[in-house]
Amino acid sequence: MLVSKRKEKDIDQIFKFYKSVKDGEERKWKKSFFQNIVGNENTFFLYSFPAKGYLIFSLSVESIDVIALAIDEDYRKNGIATKLLEKMIILARENHANKAFLEVSACNLAAIKLYHKFGFSKIGIRRNYYQKKNEKQDAILMKLDIS
Ligand SMILES: CC(C)(COP(=O)(O)OP(=O)(O)OC[C@H]1O[C@@H](n2cnc3c(N)ncnc32)[C@H](O)[C@@H]1OP(=O)(O)O)[C@@H](O)C(=O)NCCC(=O)NCCS
Repeated sequence: MLVSKRKEKDIDQIFKFYKSVKDGEERKWKKSFFQNIVGNENTFFLYSFPAKGYLIFSLSVESIDVIALAIDEDYRKNGIATKLLEKMIILARENHANKAFLEVSACNLAAIKLYHKFGFSKIGIRRNYYQKKNEKQDAILMKLDIS
């Protein structure tokens, strides 16, 4: 369920897994971009299988930045995202991180509900941050204090 310390060949496998998750994204990251993000030693790739889903986050001295979270369309509403976020919080505590940040489209009500459930609260807004199908969407910035 967790990939953190990685070798080059692991990235190939993780990338294959990432590509196989039907997450509704029109354009998946290219391999080079994926490698830049996930190949970084401070980036964690948590995954669920066979009920497919992944959570990518980076860990710095005191905080976590959620980079991506997606569950395969066939496995949603089964508590997979909940499990991945719970694991992220355990890892945050183990690594002495006391806060987590993320950004989510203001239109993504399912994700906003999920994050609220975990105690994330809104700390700001970035106007017209996302461009989806000719439409601009605001990003909501959220923060979670981890005790
Ligand atoms: C948002 C997403 C990650 C939720 O994953 P999931 O595994 O289905 O979520 P869970 O089953 O753990 O649900 C936990 C809580 O999230 C909320 N939630 C999840 N899906 C929801 C939906 N379709 N509508 C409303 N609330 C929803 C609910 O509060 C739910 O708790 P409940 O079951 O007690 O009502 C998933 O729908 C997804 O991958 N969406 C596309 C990618 C995405 O939006 N990622 C987030 C980008 S920031």
